[in-house]
Amino acid sequence: MRTLAGSVRAHWKQAIRTMSAPNKNYDPVEVTALSPEEIERALEAALGAIAAAGSLDELKAARLAHSGDRAPLTLARAEIGALPPQARAEAGKRVGAVQGQVKAAIGRRQAALEKERDERVLIAEAVDVTLPAARQVQGARHPVSLSAELLSDVFVAMGYEVAEGPEVEAEWYNFDALNFPPDHPAREMQDTLFIARQDGLPGSSGIVARTHTSPVQIRSLLTRPLPLYVVSPGRVYRNEASDATHLAAFYQIEGLAVDEGLTMADLRGAIQAFVDVLFGAGLRTRLRPDYFPFTEPSADVSMECHVCRGASVKPGADPCRTCRSMGWIELAGCGMVNPRVLVACGIDPDRYSGFAFGLGVERALMLAHGIGDIKDTTDGDVRFSRAFGMEL
Ligand code: PHE
Repeated sequence: MRTLAGSVRAHWKQAIRTMSAPNKNYDPVEVTALSPEEIERALEAALGAIAAAGSLDELKAARLAHSGDRAPLTLARAEIGALPPQARAEAGKRVGAVQGQVKAAIGRRQAALEKERDERVLIAEAVDVTLPAARQVQGARHPVSLSAELLSDVFVAMGYEVAEGPEVEAEWYNFDALNFPPDHPAREMQDTLFIARQDGLPGSSGIVARTHTSPVQIRSLLTRPLPLYVVSPGRVYRNEASDATHLAAFYQIEGLAVDEGLTMADLRGAIQAFVDVLFGAGLRTRLRPDYFPFTEPSADVSMECHVCRGASVKPGADPCRTCRSMGWIELAGCGMVNPRVLVACGIDPDRYSGFAFGLGVERALMLAHGIGDIKDTTDGDVRFSRAFGMEL
């Protein structure tokens, strides 16, 4: 009687005998997958699918189907091992050649499809560098700010420092320390915007919207060491109706120099330098007596009209809009610092002297650029600002 182990052993013996003794009658053609017709059919199917692939994705699908692990040719190749040794070489050659053809076809199609794709991308992603750019409109700095800066720069270049003060100012700085008597008409309601009035206190201790930048003279004299050269741009307020040449809120720029031995000649020199920068060299300036409580002597500064250069004054000449045919344009107020101002700030007037000047920024801007209506400077129309450049 056979044991179970005995019958298993017998089975394997039989099996091993079969494998190690090839069947001389085995015909490779009999392995259907390896028949030349089958191989030819697989090749045609593969080439057809590759040629039909219209995109790289389709080609990938065709590659997996016809040369991937589950492709008929791959599976056929796996059958070669089952052939008798003498049949393997030929079958191997045949399948290998066809697989090579398929691979080459895939490579060619891949290259063609990639080229097509690249051309499509080039067209789709083309950038026309000649198209106008989408411009982002930037704002522009306001011409009044630019002018105040330019005017300050003229003096900064001469060694002055910029000093600023508050727009809401103590009456003492705005008037008293500047030698305005308590009953000076400039303090009255039509000129000054009073923020708070504190009657009954000693001195005038009200709060005002500063009517000029001159209080910065006092602030500078009280806080900065001597000698002192400062320029003070800033906004000032007057209680008055605005018209083509007046605003209730406008900008001034003020200069103050206090040093030993300063004279009116220094004042003239500073003013001439300023006019030269602003309106171009070669225009004469003139000083005529005037009155300000904080300067003594005081003067108003005029410059020769930069448009007609005085020609409009002559009889029969064309009229000049800029100087109204006067030949001169009033530009600024100025004078030698009143010794009483120096004393109010604790400075010895026997040792130090000084000069000061002040002018309206909008007015200087209007004169320099022939602007007829001061309201253009406050309307906030960006076209007005842009005309002065895009400086930011
Ligand atoms: N503060 C004067 C004004 O507003 C101008 C000025 C400044 C005059 C400095 C003389 C000196 O009119």
